[in-house]
Amino acid sequence: MIKIAPSILAADPLNLERDVIRAEKADCDWIHVDVMDAHFVPNLAYSADVVRRLRQITELPLDVHLMMDHPEIMLDQFLDAGASCLTIHAEIEADVTQLLKRIRQRGRMAGIALKPGTPTEAICEYMDIADLTLMMTVEPGFGGQKLDARVISKIRRLKDLGYKGEIEADGGIREDNLELLAVNGLTVAVMGTALFRDEDMKGCIARLHQIGTGK
Ligand code: DX5
Ligand code: ZN
Repeated sequence: MIKIAPSILAADPLNLERDVIRAEKADCDWIHVDVMDAHFVPNLAYSADVVRRLRQITELPLDVHLMMDHPEIMLDQFLDAGASCLTIHAEIEADVTQLLKRIRQRGRMAGIALKPGTPTEAICEYMDIADLTLMMTVEPGFGGQKLDARVISKIRRLKDLGYKGEIEADGGIREDNLELLAVNGLTVAVMGTALFRDEDMKGCIARLHQIGTGK
């Protein structure tokens, strides 16, 4: 079964608690939290304080996606706040190996993310220390974009390279394109617009959980 991680970037910022509880009652598996520093991406979003407050209202895994040039500055703050999985981008200048090890040393899942244009091989040196690989299926920075189909072959390639961790995709995922990702090896789907705009989120997630299971 594909794990479904609603992205709260598409939730109502003035009603985050309401929308997270709604997603939890709709049987989502994780909560995806986008952190943006207005440098790595041309947008600003969410702080460690928001993660801390989310930790107080849900027991669901908090899947924190750091779109930051210098995640090393705030790594411990997000871990102290209660991030279950902390994902950094492979394109940053910092020592990625050291950061992934620091996340694991704190007993959390360590994730590595690739922009659509970054080749899959960029994660080869992290294959054994990344519990999760996040394949961006849009250029990071905004929700509501169209899925970049070129990334499907990158997911396949990751599988073919023998990667054993979680394979997550993020951006433009909808009910009608999830199957193609699932048959190529996806294990976690981040969904923002398609989920929070669906009045029957529970029904939608139930159908999504069937995708890739052959049922
Ligand atoms: C974009 C973010 C995504 C985004 C997904 O940079 O990383 O998590 O919120 O939203 P949708 O599903 O609307 O593309
Ligand atoms: Zn994200």
